[in-house]
Amino acid sequence: MTIKNNAVSLILDAGDEKELEEIKLQFLGKSGTLTLAMKEMAKLPAEKRPEIGQLANEVKQIIEEAITNVGAGFHTQKIEKIQKIDVTEPGIKPSLGHLHLVTQAIEEITNIFENIGFTRVRYPEIEYDWYAFGALNFPDNHPARDDWETFFIDQEPDPKKGPILLTPHTSSGQIREMEKQVEEQKKTGNPISIKMLNIAKTYRRQSDVSHVPMFHQFETLVIGENISITHLKGVLDYFVKSYFGPDRKSRIRPYHFQFTEPSFETDVSCGVCNGKGCKLCKEGWLELGGAGMVHPNVLRNCGLDPSIYTGFASGWGVERVLTMKEGIEIDDIRLLYSNKLEFLEQF
Ligand code: DAH
Repeated sequence: MTIKNNAVSLILDAGDEKELEEIKLQFLGKSGTLTLAMKEMAKLPAEKRPEIGQLANEVKQIIEEAITNVGAGFHTQKIEKIQKIDVTEPGIKPSLGHLHLVTQAIEEITNIFENIGFTRVRYPEIEYDWYAFGALNFPDNHPARDDWETFFIDQEPDPKKGPILLTPHTSSGQIREMEKQVEEQKKTGNPISIKMLNIAKTYRRQSDVSHVPMFHQFETLVIGENISITHLKGVLDYFVKSYFGPDRKSRIRPYHFQFTEPSFETDVSCGVCNGKGCKLCKEGWLELGGAGMVHPNVLRNCGLDPSIYTGFASGWGVERVLTMKEGIEIDDIRLLYSNKLEFLEQF
């Protein structure tokens, strides 16, 4: 039968699975040659139909078998091809990225503080004036708000919490944390005990070699009964030695902040000259950032009784400690956020 011979020879010549599939359609598909021929059988006289019908079925079977066999051959060829790949050959390494320098520093800082029982928290970066300034003991409209070069958002102020802004420091988290703990205390009745580490993005209107408009700060807040300056000094020294190295020293100097009394600047001894004084540090010390004992007004603003509770707080810059770390010298801090791979790949 011509259909059979025709089909079988085409099947045997098929070069790949796709061609085989096309031949299958050509003969066995809905309007394939054999399918149509089988439909034509209805027109035959009744007595001839069984014989021709059987023949057609045999042809169909032969074609199907040929397709299956040739198809199986293609499959084996594919497997053989795969097996020829030498799996012991060294692979091509995909290029791997790594965590951004600042993210690495944040992880390191988090570990250091978590090791001594601090809990990392996160609070809004779009804040009310109340959290960023008011509750931190800044009188209304006090120009000290300018010291933080704040971005105010052009939106109707909240009647109680004031204008909306991008938080210029992580100290706003102190208020959020104390409010939260006071609420919880109302439910549990347990005394307040806070060891907070707030790491967040902070925003200021600034951009030069040592400032970027968006940077990160890490803020500690410790509140309890009988917390004193010695605790602050202990935590400062522990951080300095853990982050910068065991040979580095720390110190506090008097300063002024609205939300702490007394207030301090905290310093770390210079890693280049070991505290002797050099071009980098001038007198042997590098400034780390602010700290102090939480002002009684701040405690009161959060519903805490200053005759029972005391505490200390500190707020330091992530980018700052990172660039102060020995071995990492970055002339222009803006490079950190420039997405230049040549720079980022070094760390
Ligand atoms: N928020 C201050 C700043 O950004 C730093 C600071 C000073 C934080 C004293 C504190 C503190 O917690 O006690 O300049």
